[in-house]
This record gives sequence, structure tokens and C-alpha cells, in this order.
Amino acid sequence: MTQSANQPASNAMASFYRPIERELADMTSLLKERLRHLDPLFDAYLEYSFQLGGKRLRPALTLLCGKAAGKIERRHFYIGAALEMIHTGSLVHDDVLDGASFRRQLQTVNAKWDSQRAVLIGDMLITRAFELVCDCEDFKVFRKISQCCQATVEGELYQTESVGNFALSVDDYRRIVGGKTASLIECSAALGAYLGGASEADLDVYGALGRSLGVAFQIVDDVLDLVGDEDVVGKTLGTDLENQKETLPVIFYLQNASRQEKDVLLKRLGGGVRADERADIAALLKGAGAIDAALAEAKRLVDAAVARLAELRKRAEGEGRTDSLAAFDSLADLARFVVKRDK
Ligand code: FPP
Ligand code: MG
Repeated sequence: MTQSANQPASNAMASFYRPIERELADMTSLLKERLRHLDPLFDAYLEYSFQLGGKRLRPALTLLCGKAAGKIERRHFYIGAALEMIHTGSLVHDDVLDGASFRRQLQTVNAKWDSQRAVLIGDMLITRAFELVCDCEDFKVFRKISQCCQATVEGELYQTESVGNFALSVDDYRRIVGGKTASLIECSAALGAYLGGASEADLDVYGALGRSLGVAFQIVDDVLDLVGDEDVVGKTLGTDLENQKETLPVIFYLQNASRQEKDVLLKRLGGGVRADERADIAALLKGAGAIDAALAEAKRLVDAAVARLAELRKRAEGEGRTDSLAAFDSLADLARFVVKRDK
């Protein structure tokens, strides 16, 4: 496995991971171990795929929520590694669906090899993850991850069904991103807290944090798809416009536009926007305040979830659980960072 597969994406992310640095390294060792022992040909495919994931957000959440709730044990490593494999497999599949060529400054699996291999490599990662889940020997965990995978696929399917539909509501958008992105992030947080010994009531707070963070993450991802810099973000941008996927800034713009403004934009979007038209559309949305409105919605979600988490932190402080406090702080900082990121 290459060096980059061991490291979180950015220094900012690494600073949030400090309270679980050692455990994240142990989880990564387990992940590497479980990716090996296949035919050497497959090892090479899987190693390469792992350079496309990168931020280790999901296992970090599992570990941070475990530490905040009370403890980190071996099962956190199985779950963290499994969720990262599922995430990586879903990105490999997503790049086939989106026809994307670059991710994390590297060629996507479909671009480097072909779509046939990318589908099978994604399948291999996701099915291999389930072997790790079995090592937890807990049906509650198994059921939660199975349901989360179904929700992820459902979100992608809702999105596929909505291609070319520029009459989506904010609720439609929430249903898509709640499934395709937030379900796995919610699962990472909730299972970390469950294995850490959180009560049912507290699990709801950790799950809500993961869910809000997940939706906010995707809102920012969609904003970057419009206004981001490909060299900074490191992946093919403009694919939502090109593939006629309506995202939150477009929904907000259309909600507030005059009939004439609406007709002009719909005509352009309906024809499929080419890469060289992205900046023009982005400027239109920005000028109307639709980009800022989408980012404000992401911030609102994160702030509400962090406020609920602060109650748990206060209680932990009162109980003298000093070990947990740094994990609570990292969770809050990480959630706020997701809204500010530029890649
Ligand atoms: C990225 O969206 C894609 C996802 C968050 C999920 C994709 C999920 C699948 C293809 C199904 C996976 C199957 C199982 C069983 C879990 P995006 O295209 O908006 O983001 P991007 O800009 O990073 O490509
Ligand atoms: Mg994509």
C-alpha cells in the first residue's frame, strides 16, 4: 500500500483526528491487512482504489464518537475499516455512473482501466467489507450497515430517476443526498457511539450529527462542483451540470427567479451544460445569492447538530470524563470545517 493511503487528506483534517491518532493508525493497519492476501492482480487494483478515498472521514467519526461516548475497542476498528471500504467501493462505482476521469488528482478506476473492471473492483471492496462486519459478531451492527448500504443505493437511484428533472423540491434533494451520502456518515457516527456504550437517547444525538454533517458535506460538494477549482479539489468538476443533476443552488435559484430568468436557465440546463459553460452558470447562481443560500443551509444544519452535541459534552464534563472532552471538541470542529472546506 502506498504512503498516501495511510494519511488523511489535509492538515486541517489531521488536526481534528488528533484525539484518535493512534487508533486511526491501528484501524488503517487492519484495513491494509484485510485488503491483502488476494491474487496480486487484485491487490494492485484495491491499493490503487484506496488512493481515491483519502480523508478517512467515516472511520475517524466512528472512533471519535466511540471515544466521546466512553471507549474505543477492537470492534471499532472492524467497523471503521468496513465503512471505509464501502465508501471507497461506492466512489469507484460513482465515477462509472458519472463518467468521471479524475479524483484526488488521480485517474479514476474507470479511466485508468475500464468500467467493467471498476464495477467489479467496487463490488469486491463492498463485499469484502461485509467480512469485517461479521467479525463484530453483532447482528445489530450487521443490520445497521446493511440498511445503510440500501439507503445509499436508494439515494443514488432517486438521483438517477431525477436526471433531467429541474423541478425538484428541497425535500427531493434532501431525500437524494440523505441516502447517497448522509446514510453512511450517519452510520459511522451512530455505530461508533453504540460500540462506545452510548445510551439510546444519546445515540440519537450522534446519529443526527452524522446525518447533518453528511447532508452539509454533500451540499458543499455540490457547490464545489459549480464554483470549485479543479486543481484544488482534485477531481472532475461540473459533472452535475453536464449530467443534468439538479442540486441545491439551482433549486434555490429557480425558486426565487422571475418567469423569464427561469426560462433562460432551464433552456441552458436542459441542453446539458458543457465544461466551458460552467463558470458562466456558476456566476449567474452566485449573483442571485443561490450559492450563499446553499452554504447557509449547510451551516444551519451543522450548527443545530453541534448545539445538541454540546449538551452531551457538558454532561461528560460534569461526570469528570476528561478523556472524552477532546473527542467532543474534534467532532464539533470537524463538523464546522466541512462547511468551510474548499476541496
Ligand atoms: C458521490 O456523489 C457518490 C456517493 C456519495 C455515493 C455513491 C453510491 C453508489 C454508487 C452505490 C454504492 C453501493 C453500495 C452497496 C454502498 P457525487 O457524484 O455527487 O460526488 P463526487 O463529486 O465525489 O463524485
Ligand atoms: Mg460523482
